[in-house]
Amino acid sequence: GGTVAKNELGNDVSVGQFLESHNVGDRTLVQGLKGDPTYIVVESKEAIADYGINAICTHLGCVVPWNVAENKFKCPCHGSQYDATGKVVRGPAPKSLALAHAAVNDDKIVLTP
Ligand code: FES
Repeated sequence: GGTVAKNELGNDVSVGQFLESHNVGDRTLVQGLKGDPTYIVVESKEAIADYGINAICTHLGCVVPWNVAENKFKCPCHGSQYDATGKVVRGPAPKSLALAHAAVNDDKIVLTP
């Protein structure tokens, strides 16, 4: 089971290339479960975090950008804020961003609910 993360071109994301082209702490959008925009977190030079963060705001569904300067996700639609792990810290969002389990299999990122 699981869904292989795709890039914006619809191709499978290679973990090796992903880690080479991003810095520790980066949160980068891929297409995840059901095609939802999902952030993959670079945990170290060698590894992604074992969770992906669904970028769909739990208020009314805007895609929430990562704000690196403030170390949080800030929704442009009505001002909800989420911390670096997707936990809601300011409404009107009623709950935290959804998490998916992220694992690596054969150099691919595999997401499961
Ligand atoms: Fe994000 Fe309303 S859709 S705050």
